[in-house]
Amino acid sequence: MNFKDQIESIFIDEQAIPEEFRLEREVHQREYLSNGEMHSWNGEVHEVLSPVCIKTAEGLKRKVIGSYPLCDEKEAAEALSAAVAAYNNGRGEWPTMSVADRITCVEKFTHKIIEKKAEVVKLLMWEIGKSHGDSVKEFDRTVEYIYATIDALKDLDRQSSKFSIEQGIVAQIRRSPLGVVLCMGPFNYPLNETFTTLIPALIMGNTLLFKPPKHGTLLHYPLLTAFRDCFPKGVVNTIYGRGNKIIPDLMKSGDINVLTLIGSSKVANELKKLHPKVNRLRAILGLDAKNAAIITAKADIKLSVQETVLGSLSFNGQRCTALKIIFVHRSLADEFLTELSDAVSKLKFGMPWEAGVSLTPLPEPHKPAYLKDCISDAVEKGARVINENGGATNESFVFPAIVYPVSKGMKLYTEEQFGPVIPVVPFDDVEETITYLIESTHGQQVSIFSNDDEEIAKLIDPLVNQVSRVNINCQCQRGPDVFPFTGRKDSAEGTLSVIDALRSFSIRSLVATKLNDSNKHLINEIVDSNRSNFLSTKYLF
Ligand code: G3H
Repeated sequence: MNFKDQIESIFIDEQAIPEEFRLEREVHQREYLSNGEMHSWNGEVHEVLSPVCIKTAEGLKRKVIGSYPLCDEKEAAEALSAAVAAYNNGRGEWPTMSVADRITCVEKFTHKIIEKKAEVVKLLMWEIGKSHGDSVKEFDRTVEYIYATIDALKDLDRQSSKFSIEQGIVAQIRRSPLGVVLCMGPFNYPLNETFTTLIPALIMGNTLLFKPPKHGTLLHYPLLTAFRDCFPKGVVNTIYGRGNKIIPDLMKSGDINVLTLIGSSKVANELKKLHPKVNRLRAILGLDAKNAAIITAKADIKLSVQETVLGSLSFNGQRCTALKIIFVHRSLADEFLTELSDAVSKLKFGMPWEAGVSLTPLPEPHKPAYLKDCISDAVEKGARVINENGGATNESFVFPAIVYPVSKGMKLYTEEQFGPVIPVVPFDDVEETITYLIESTHGQQVSIFSNDDEEIAKLIDPLVNQVSRVNINCQCQRGPDVFPFTGRKDSAEGTLSVIDALRSFSIRSLVATKLNDSNKHLINEIVDSNRSNFLSTKYLF
């Protein structure tokens, strides 16, 4: 089949969808979890359209897969009150519970969500168009993350189970919760990235308001009863609705202690400013990124091509860590572009359930038009799409475009395209790439491709002060999840990783006293009687 026929027939009849990947029924969510109860919802709803279109008599239509509540400020305020009450100024059952008991609750929760794996994976695939294989990986990675978090917390707790003695003062130093956390995840990793903030926030003893992303909401529905059944009432509360309608009042209330958001710096800044006491708000944010690849004259072209394809097109380029601009030394540009075009032409595109599929339809309805606009802007300013069929679009599906030569002044030079477009910039002096990173508003990661140790060494030192991770001869990525994940400038605030997240969502507190006989006796009495969960030498295994 030629390309034209292939892209025109990418979407199929509903009956042709393989049975095992079909949604048994549409999911019309009419409940939400607040204050320990599933409340019914009879108000306005948001219809969920899959990025997957199906053939109908009226042409291609995004498949309706369900709907979810569009609650109002009132329900959001009730959820906030529930979280505030459950925290109860740090005196609630959850924030005062022993670490061991909190871990037991999270373990119980994990067992329950594992039972829902097939359901969640299918919704993940249908809601955001992620391939079935990658949807399974996202679920498994999330479960692994939870178990790793439990292990890291046990480790942290073991280190805190001893007393420190300095200058005649004895102290026990532990980490305590911060209060009410407002948690909002992104559409591209709606389960994983949400849970990499939600779980550490929860396990450290905070109470939560959790707003699922606009695309990637229904997949959380099967998990709500697990939240209800595994944690005390009011500890986890969900909020649904238009973010710009329900979130501002929550921030203005001053009752949110931590804002954790994986999204845009613009939204994060607007929200932070609404808090009446900014000093009381901690923000843990994963934001915009425009990670660059720097392919020097000494690079291995084959390897650079392979990693550029992975880095810029995994999940259609919809990763915050994706390579979003490629700098290539002019001496290699022609060969690099030829090989890159060839590699892109070999990528399998199709429906998310197809085995081996790499490129799938995009969930954001405006995205194909936005990408087209970015490409036209570059073409008007002197670039061209150099790969055959680059940018070809059929409804929600866009075939990757390699755009060259991209230069300053084009949208693709600075904007985070978050989709299947690869802007390539030729350079003569590597200094040009350093200048780009210095001038960039982003500062997440960079990838250097070179086989020359001297050249790499000279780049590492300036670049580690521009971004938060320098990758050598490989694409940018978040994992392994135990590594710190953060960014500079508009790319992040705070650090995530299995270990760092536990710190991000807590604050150190200590109990201290002068070391004399009567205090020694007091402390021993408290520890021996197990009357305090904080002042305790119990060892978690
Ligand atoms: O969207 C941002 C994700 O954290 C990227 O994670 O590099 O493992 O795909 P990843």
